[in-house]
Amino acid sequence: MFYRPEDGHGLPHNPFNAIVAPRPIGWISTRGADGSENLAPYSFFNAVAYTPPQVMFASTGAKADRDGTKDSVTNIRDTGVFCVNLVEYALKDAMNQTSGPWSREVDEFTDAGLERSECATIPCSRVTAAPASLECRLTQVVPLKGKANFLVLGEVTGIHIRDNILTNGMIDPTTYAPLARMGYRDYAKVEEVFSMNRPGQS
Ligand SMILES: Cc1cc2nc3c(=O)[nH]c(=O)nc-3n(C[C@H](O)[C@H](O)[C@H](O)COP(=O)(O)O)c2cc1C
Repeated sequence: MFYRPEDGHGLPHNPFNAIVAPRPIGWISTRGADGSENLAPYSFFNAVAYTPPQVMFASTGAKADRDGTKDSVTNIRDTGVFCVNLVEYALKDAMNQTSGPWSREVDEFTDAGLERSECATIPCSRVTAAPASLECRLTQVVPLKGKANFLVLGEVTGIHIRDNILTNGMIDPTTYAPLARMGYRDYAKVEEVFSMNRPGQS
């Protein structure tokens, strides 16, 4: 099939985010200007630069009790910081719980039964059990075409790596298995990894 998005896809569900898949999940922790805590998953998420290391995520849509966006973007605009926690299989249900349309007062750490730790370089909480967490300072919020679409970019100022995912100084794919989001309600866990040498590299 072929379709132009402006004409509609004619399918029971939008296939777009099932095509751009699998996607890593950035589990974004933030703190409000009032000190409230927030945690939510974003799969429009990726790393975008090495030096300095930078990441991005995109927020689409708005919550009823927020002015044209969601809690995460509001908090990041107010405080200038956020932490990206990576999700593994054992954390899948807690991650899913934090994606609910909860009101701004809800502390998703508490609601999902998650322990928190204070970040080292920014005033924000991180998910203690996460296999890795990236502490970030906001660099840009870019409004995207359409309604309530925002791209958030941040510089990584602190990196936590759980000891058991490092083997001989390298992230070990046999112990580090970040959850990925497929389309619709589907997720994937990585169970097979292979290596390839790049041309011109030994
Ligand atoms: C696996 C997963 C990935 C998600 N990815 C996104 C995303 O990339 N962008 C987005 O706006 N919402 C995404 N959502 C929905 C948000 O998590 C949800 O709207 C949440 O309530 C936002 O919380 P907040 O208002 O505390 O930021 C995702 C949900 C799940 C379960």
